[in-house]
Amino acid sequence: MADASELTKPHSENFRSVLGRLPTGVVVITGGDPQRPSGLVVGSFMSVSLEPPLVAVCVARTSTSWPAIESGGSFCANVLAEGQQQLARAFAVSGGDKFAGLSFTPAPATGSPVLADVAAWIDCRIYQHYEAGDHWLVLGEVLELSGLRDGGALVFLSGSFHPLIS
Ligand SMILES: Cc1cc2nc3c(=O)[nH]c(=O)nc-3n(C[C@H](O)[C@H](O)[C@H](O)COP(=O)(O)O)c2cc1C
Repeated sequence: MADASELTKPHSENFRSVLGRLPTGVVVITGGDPQRPSGLVVGSFMSVSLEPPLVAVCVARTSTSWPAIESGGSFCANVLAEGQQQLARAFAVSGGDKFAGLSFTPAPATGSPVLADVAAWIDCRIYQHYEAGDHWLVLGEVLELSGLRDGGALVFLSGSFHPLIS
C-alpha cells in the first residue's frame, strides 16, 4: 500500500491504479448494423437524469466498435450478471465478430442486441455526445429498460472481475 504522500500525480499508471479501486458494474454496449452488430464492454456506465431519463457512458476515441454504433443512432446497455466474466472478456477485445455463437434478441425500441441472461438491459437513443479528452462522453435517452434477473451482478475492481451475489 502506497504511503498517502506517494504517487499523487495523475500519470497513467497512477490514474489507472487509483481509479481502479472504485468498483464498477460491467456493461456491454451493443448496437450498429442489425446484420452485423457491434459491441464493447465498459465500466463507465451510469444513470444521469430521471426527467428526461438519461444515462451516460464514456467511450475511448480508439474504440473500433463505437463508430458503427454511433452511426445507428442508438445503443443497448447490457448489465452483466455474476458469472458472465467470459462474455465480458469477449467484448473487451478489439475486432472480430464478437457476436458469433452468442444468443441475443432485439431490444424493443432500437433493435440493438439484448444478450442472453444479462441482469438488466437499457435501450437508448443517442441524445448528446461531448468530447472528453481521449474519450467521448455519450448521453443516451432511455426508451425502454428491464431488470431481467434478481440476484448478483458482475463487478470490476482493481483489474479483476468479481461476482457480487445478493
Ligand atoms: C472491465 C472493463 C471496463 C472497460 N471500460 C471501458 C470504458 O468505460 N470505455 C471504453 O471505451 N473502454 C472500456 N474498456 C475497454 C474496451 O472494452 C476495449 O478497449 C475494447 O477492446 C474496445 O473494443 P472495440 O475496439 O471493439 O470498441 C473496458 C474494459 C474492461 C475489461
